[in-house]
Amino acid sequence: MGNNIQIAIDGPAAAGKSTIAKLVAEELGYTYIDTGAMYRAITYKVLERHIDLENEEALTNLLLETTIELKPSNDGQMVFLDGQDVSDAIRSNAITSYVSIVASKASLRKEMVNRQIKMAKRSGVVMDGRDIGTHVLVEAELKIFMSASVDERAKRRQLDNERRGIDSLLSQLKKEIVLRDKMDSERVASPLVQAKDAIYLDTTNLTILEAAKYIIQLAKERMS
Ligand code: C5P
Repeated sequence: MGNNIQIAIDGPAAAGKSTIAKLVAEELGYTYIDTGAMYRAITYKVLERHIDLENEEALTNLLLETTIELKPSNDGQMVFLDGQDVSDAIRSNAITSYVSIVASKASLRKEMVNRQIKMAKRSGVVMDGRDIGTHVLVEAELKIFMSASVDERAKRRQLDNERRGIDSLLSQLKKEIVLRDKMDSERVASPLVQAKDAIYLDTTNLTILEAAKYIIQLAKERMS
């Protein structure tokens, strides 16, 4: 099998997936792919163009003529939309509120999944999202389904926002997280669900480093 395996990390909003996935990728020398950033990037363009969020064909056609690139940097992963750096812009409250509607469209997802499968072919990879273990990297050697209590996730998101200079109320964050999880779990097209062969990891009482170490240990077992 060699040392290059595929690691799929799925789970609800703000469970720590991207922070932990990044650490795991760094430690293993793997490529990290944040698929949520891709859905956020296309949502940014959809809102900028005032496209009807329910017009699936228009949304999909827009994606077909759009390039989304993910590039590693010292400050984390950078996101480029048609060459423009949108790394910070895609974390805004507006994008966060609309992204699940855009991501619910089956034909748009099909194109995203095709792109993600191609990106994963290049090397050892850690990919995080909602449908990675179920639809994108279905053959991944290691699948994790990561969650944490809603209270803990809202607190983490608030800290994250503070670091980005975004003000947010805890009660509002909780509502936003619950609503987004509901939309992501109840949509018809590849909903958020734990893959049958995924390991469930509750990070409520774990530090980021503890969770990362656990996944790295599992990855090393799968490599040998
Ligand atoms: O991971 P993040 O919270 O940035 O993802 C933003 C949104 O993108 C999710 O709430 C979900 O609607 C969508 N998404 C998805 N499938 C993925 C990754 C993200 O539907 N693989």
